[in-house]
Amino acid sequence: MSAIHQNVSTSLSASTSTFLSHNNLNSLRPSHVSVAGRMSAVVICVATPSAEKTGASLLSLSNHFSILTVGATFDEAYKTNVARNENLAKLQAGYLFPEIARRRNAHIAKNPDAKVISLGIGDTTEPIPEVITSAMSKRSEVLSTVSGYSGYGAEQGEQKLRAAIASTYYAGLGIEENDIFVSDGAKSDISRLQVLFGSNVTMAVQDPSYPAYVDSSVILGQTGLFQKDVEKYANIEYMRCTPENGFFPDLSTVGRTDIIFFCSPNNPTGSAASRDQLTKLVQFAKENGSIIVYDSAYAMYVSDDSPRSIFEIPGAKEVALEVSSFSKYAGFTGVRLGWTAIPKELHYSDGFPVAKDFNRIVCTCFNGASNIAQAGGLACVSPEGIKAMHEVVGFYKENTAIIVDTFNSLGFKVYGGKNAPYVWVHFPGRSSWDVFSEILEKTHVVTTPGSGFGPGGEGFVRVSAFGHRENVLEACRRFKELYK
Ligand SMILES: Cc1ncc(COP(=O)(O)O)c(C=O)c1O
Repeated sequence: MSAIHQNVSTSLSASTSTFLSHNNLNSLRPSHVSVAGRMSAVVICVATPSAEKTGASLLSLSNHFSILTVGATFDEAYKTNVARNENLAKLQAGYLFPEIARRRNAHIAKNPDAKVISLGIGDTTEPIPEVITSAMSKRSEVLSTVSGYSGYGAEQGEQKLRAAIASTYYAGLGIEENDIFVSDGAKSDISRLQVLFGSNVTMAVQDPSYPAYVDSSVILGQTGLFQKDVEKYANIEYMRCTPENGFFPDLSTVGRTDIIFFCSPNNPTGSAASRDQLTKLVQFAKENGSIIVYDSAYAMYVSDDSPRSIFEIPGAKEVALEVSSFSKYAGFTGVRLGWTAIPKELHYSDGFPVAKDFNRIVCTCFNGASNIAQAGGLACVSPEGIKAMHEVVGFYKENTAIIVDTFNSLGFKVYGGKNAPYVWVHFPGRSSWDVFSEILEKTHVVTTPGSGFGPGGEGFVRVSAFGHRENVLEACRRFKELYK
């Protein structure tokens, strides 16, 4: 990319956020306008080096495009007669990751010589183990041969990989190869699951939680409007998770919903639910006739006896399905490979199997994961691959220990870290965004403000352990300097 393009896209990814922050565009101009910016138009979307790579679907959109404004005004822009999807219009201003990118870019512009370290995004940094990449290389090479070429595969994934995932992650738990749907990642599966459930279901989320659950629910039309006073969408049950309740919701105060999103080990708090807690959750779902969507994207980070899968809990197969991913185990955030496990025992109120409907969704909305990525997945779950993934996870967990020790030594209350690559640091009585800004301005380290994960995250900052060792050590040295 030329210098000029770099400049343009850097400066304008800031305007992307400005664009997205105008939730009610109609208040800014007299009639419907399909694109927005700084009140000028003829808009060109350009791919930019992606800044922040997690968060909800709409966030991703803003990550991949910057808006170039070239002179004309909005009023001159051609407008279609298509009304904007009103559910998308409900999504809120100040999206977490674009806002972080905007602030980071502004910081870099103000401090061009600063060595900015990012412990904010939650994207992996370490190379994919060779045993895995060599399997992908081989698969890509045989695609150039007549005998080795393959086109569309099974929408559900290659049978060998489905079987290997079932036997690696669900041995003895009654999950079989045909219960596994291989995907291009957990985030896409979360959205496909929302399509599966449709607009009429109600849902609950941990508060704080990974933003994709709430945003995809809003997009599907399951929610009401955002209520600014409480920072919540109407019609979503926010299950507060705090240090006081051990980051497990008080289920006696949680209303019944159809769907319960539950992530353990949790992003962002880093806490893993215990066997007892998950047993309560399964009981709660059974009493209410709810379905748990259990996100185990960080299961391999568990280092105590917390369950790695919801299916370790007796009875869970009747009330739960599980989404998971190779992203944070093998550095597959760019390769893209995950899976969803749906037990045969999981049924709708009319007795129809959930897996059958999901199969229909997968066949309609997805054509199967990349065959090259699936070859990588198969290598991941080979004995050497599992060992290599444990080494990757072990490396990030050493980073976590360094970050935890640093904040502990400074007298902060620190949560998470033990079973997850995230450290959840408490700054009581302070705004998460203020702390984020303080850390960025004074140490040039990017973190993530807890309130971006839901109102329950206010007063916390998430520090990610995904980083090169020298960067983590340097960031911790700067934290010590700031808070000594
Ligand atoms: C809890 C959780 N679930 C799912 C994902 C998305 O994973 P994938 O890369 O497989 O889409 C993430 C990514 O950060 C995550 O934190």
